[in-house]
Amino acid sequence: MRRKVIAGNWKMNMLPNEAIAFIEALAPLVKDTQNEVILCVPYTDLFYSLLTAQGTNIKIGAQNMHFEESGAYTGEVSGKMLKSIGVEYVIIGHSERRQYFAETDETVNKKIKAALRNELKPIVCVGETLEQRESGKTEEIITTQTRLALEGLTQEQLNSVIIAYEPIWAIGTGKTATSEDANNSIKAIRNEIAKLYGNDVADEIIIQYGGSVKSSNAKELFTTSDIDGGLVGGSSLKADEFSKIVNYMN
Ligand code: 13P
Repeated sequence: MRRKVIAGNWKMNMLPNEAIAFIEALAPLVKDTQNEVILCVPYTDLFYSLLTAQGTNIKIGAQNMHFEESGAYTGEVSGKMLKSIGVEYVIIGHSERRQYFAETDETVNKKIKAALRNELKPIVCVGETLEQRESGKTEEIITTQTRLALEGLTQEQLNSVIIAYEPIWAIGTGKTATSEDANNSIKAIRNEIAKLYGNDVADEIIIQYGGSVKSSNAKELFTTSDIDGGLVGGSSLKADEFSKIVNYMN
């Protein structure tokens, strides 16, 4: 049985004092869950979040990283730097980074390799635009993104990778993919991984759904056959709402 992984992506929100207050409020609300709880926070919140989350079951992730370890890359942060302060997870290839910051399948692949080299667990985002969906290309787009993202990774490395299927048209729009649609897309990603790495790896890998997840739809989404939890944007900014998503079965 695969575990469920519920990750918050705060995006460019939350100051350090807000991050501390959030984690202090969230910790008692999620302490009894069997699900994995992750918060992917802005760089400026990482250190405070890591300290505040110590002794809780909340894990901390970043939202991006550079693929080199160090060097003349003004404004960038490396996987080595994230690892050095105790970060465990890092989102790679979020659609907002692909759309606004020229992230490509190639840089996504390099970043995943750099994350793994630094013993960080990448949460790799794939997803189609509305136009691609409407022209019937969803499966082709998401399986191609998955294949290119994972190119050159070993079977063993796949154990540390999480995939997040995030249809771009469902992000921040209030529109959620139906649980059936989301589950089918995730099955297509799992089949692609089976082709590349075999059934055992495909059966084990965690594939989340992201896009307007909230407490009112979490249970329906997360109790399907293939959706292993969620990557949650807007609804991860309120501790109470996020805790209800983590505790979606209660
Ligand atoms: P929303 O939950 O706000 O739609 O954002 C989803 C997302 O992009 C998470 O990475």
